[in-house]
Amino acid sequence: MTRILIFDTDDALFKKVAERIVTTSADFISRKGRFTIALSGGSTPARLYALLATPFFEMQIDWSKWFVFWGDERHVPANSPQNNASAAIQVLLSKVSIPASQVFAVNTKQPAPEAAADYEKIISAMIPEGGLDLVLLGLGTNGHTASLFPHTQVLHNITRKVMEEYIIELDQYRISMTSHFINQANKIFFLVTGKEKSEIVSRILGDEKDKDSYPALYINPESGNLSWYLDAEAAAGI
Ligand code: 6PG
Repeated sequence: MTRILIFDTDDALFKKVAERIVTTSADFISRKGRFTIALSGGSTPARLYALLATPFFEMQIDWSKWFVFWGDERHVPANSPQNNASAAIQVLLSKVSIPASQVFAVNTKQPAPEAAADYEKIISAMIPEGGLDLVLLGLGTNGHTASLFPHTQVLHNITRKVMEEYIIELDQYRISMTSHFINQANKIFFLVTGKEKSEIVSRILGDEKDKDSYPALYINPESGNLSWYLDAEAAAGI
């Protein structure tokens, strides 16, 4: 099931997503004793992470039962401003009472293939069957999500959970969860804001079928549900 939720402002969007994360994590914790989430990188979710760290939301969440992963990571040092995990740790995870042993960042000190293989081992050990409870995703203007970029090998892999990929247009290795693994999640939230995303949003949510050119089209949960959280600017074309 796919839901599309449109908000007048991005503030309203992030507030709603934070509320949904509170209820979703509480639900999984009550049913399974823990909550597993893959955070997205990029700039969009930074405001959400900062909101979750505010006392109003922080106090509503049992962080001791959270297990945090990343949907993708840039193959850059942990102290690089480009590092997704470091950014989320700085804005959110260093400010809440989640045990450090339950935060799983990609070890980018290793060469990309080893970093991906080791991250995959960690995920397989922590999530031996099925998928994550919740995956947060962003959307690039070229239709990529996580680090699933157009016309890359990772798009077609249906066995791996995590893979490395050299992204030519970025001259950078990325480590990404595969769509195969992301689609095993119980819930997937796309968070997209801003007028620069309106064209790609209308294409992805419209009649576009070319998955290899627009990899966000590979995101289709096997049995879970998919929600698009859009502000009015990003939704202007739909
Ligand atoms: C990354 C992200 C990537 C991101 C999109 C949108 O590592 O960059 O995982 O998929 O979500 O590129 O990025 P913005 O939110 O910065 O527009």
